[in-house]
Amino acid sequence: MNQEQLKQLVAEAARDEVLKLESGAILGVGTGSTANCFIDALAPYKGHFSGTVSSSNATTKRLLQHGFKVLDPNEVTILPAYVDGADEIDPAGNMIKGGGGALTREKIIASMASQFICICDASKQVPVLGHFALPVEIIPLSLGVVTRQLEKFGGKVSMRLTKNSQEDLQQASSTPFVTDNGGWILDVRGLHITHPRDLESQINQIAGVITVGLFAKERATILLVSGPSGVDRITF
Ligand code: A5P
Repeated sequence: MNQEQLKQLVAEAARDEVLKLESGAILGVGTGSTANCFIDALAPYKGHFSGTVSSSNATTKRLLQHGFKVLDPNEVTILPAYVDGADEIDPAGNMIKGGGGALTREKIIASMASQFICICDASKQVPVLGHFALPVEIIPLSLGVVTRQLEKFGGKVSMRLTKNSQEDLQQASSTPFVTDNGGWILDVRGLHITHPRDLESQINQIAGVITVGLFAKERATILLVSGPSGVDRITF
């Protein structure tokens, strides 16, 4: 099975999982290629939900294209579940997220939800977080000071840049990647995150940081993980 098929498989398992929620519930929806497969798989059953809350402009667009109702998170007080992918997940359900740059809204919606249903293939499961670069969204004017503070944790910090267009592949981009919130992203490579909850709160304390893509406080409560022999369901 290739990775696309594994994403499809786990997306269908997540669809079946959320259809167990009572009819009329509101659903939180994540961002990324696995979340996209989930949205597509759920589309024929959109009538089961009274609305969704979205974690990015890209997800909002996809939900609207399928005819889902997308609500302002400020209108929502009860959110039974949030479904999203991850870049890495450890054996306790702590995650690195933000490879697609949507970490801040993802964390906000996750914090509203009673359950975080993480969907991924087995390649995202790691014993210790940190092989994937840790994204940190920042206020642009704090670039210098936040970079110096993050370097103290031992990793190598680099600013995320936009991808070059096809015509411009020879030249390195020097344009910062800008998030849906107008923030920039620093990626921290080379960390070995043995105490995710502590590191999350330490990075959150740095002035200029909007959000760190470490989801320890908002860790997964359920993991649906696909592999060659099917989908496993793990609860934390
Ligand atoms: C988006 O910012 C991320 O947090 C994604 O949820 C994460 O990168 C997983 O994406 P894929 O499903 O595309 O691997």
